[in-house]
Amino acid sequence: MENQFQSFHARYIKLSAFIKKGEPALLLAPMEGVTDFPMRTLLSELGGFKFCVSEFVRVNQEILPDRVFYKFVPELKTNGKTASGCPVIVQILGGNPVKMAKTALRLTQLGALGIDINFGCPAPTVNRNDGGAVILKEPHRIKEIVGAVRAAVPYHIPVSAKVRLGWDQVEEIYKISEAAVLGGASWLTIHARTRAQGYAKPIHWHMIGEVSKKLSIPVVANGDIGSLEDFKVCREVTGCEHFMLGRGALSEPSLALSIAKELGVSDLKDPILTGFGNSKERWLPLLQRFVELGEPQAINPNYTIRRIKQWLNLASRTQTLTWAEPIKRSLTLEEVWQAFQ
Ligand SMILES: Cc1cc2nc3c(=O)[nH]c(=O)nc-3n(C[C@H](O)[C@H](O)[C@H](O)COP(=O)(O)O)c2cc1C
Repeated sequence: MENQFQSFHARYIKLSAFIKKGEPALLLAPMEGVTDFPMRTLLSELGGFKFCVSEFVRVNQEILPDRVFYKFVPELKTNGKTASGCPVIVQILGGNPVKMAKTALRLTQLGALGIDINFGCPAPTVNRNDGGAVILKEPHRIKEIVGAVRAAVPYHIPVSAKVRLGWDQVEEIYKISEAAVLGGASWLTIHARTRAQGYAKPIHWHMIGEVSKKLSIPVVANGDIGSLEDFKVCREVTGCEHFMLGRGALSEPSLALSIAKELGVSDLKDPILTGFGNSKERWLPLLQRFVELGEPQAINPNYTIRRIKQWLNLASRTQTLTWAEPIKRSLTLEEVWQAFQ
């Protein structure tokens, strides 16, 4: 018979099991300056995502003031979830295990539902300051950092790692992933490129397939899923059941939902957004909602316009949005809305 401890344990194991073998999941990628609070709120409202990973919080001192955490992840004030109830895992970035562990612990005290560690950021300024992908060069440090964070936070809180395949060789992923497992990572997200590649092609999905066969923890496949067709190929090549979607979630707002349906995990009955396409009638309410959500955060009106342009530029990479051309030159929100007349 199940004793008290076992049922307590089972409850927390269930809570912590954000990513579990046999339960496919789609995650919203962390994208600094893109998937911020308003964007997470909006995209999680549209549906399809099991949870979001926040933009990275850079850890360069013993412990940052709470206001910094709340600024990056306002969802900490609402039980760690977006307004539509989607959990947000907080991503941290840094090379010092002690500082990372203290930060992770504080975040969980503030309500973070999970901690993800960034070992993928390719930005030279970040890498020069011992953060992000530079740590891929020394896999033993991945083990130390993940291990320190794992040991610091309560055991029901998942600690995951997000990596690239390597610094400049795709085969580095074998040692990198082993280090993450030894550190106690709950799962591993792999962006199928090296740091040297930046965002250039090709995407090496097959390496995710190779390495995940050898690992005891779940692997989340990431990189260049821009359409349902891409997703199907990625699933075939990687053999994964967990996926992370970044730029594709913005360029095709119905993609997450379509993928979730394909994974059999969408609970939305009404496929209102499926086949979102490129018509301005479909985009207008989204942009209006985004502006509304971003208003309290907006530093100034230029910021909001810049974010709209950023979004439409991303979307224009994969589809033709002729109506959006004047918006790319707009200086005021009035001009933005005029493009929809
Ligand atoms: C503008 C931008 C910002 C990003 N910021 C982060 C970040 O804060 N943390 C992180 O782990 N990855 C970050 N990434 C990488 C993405 O999470 C993802 O791994 C990458 O974009 C590949 O996935 P995609 O092709 O689906 O976009 C960023 C990517 C972009 C384009």
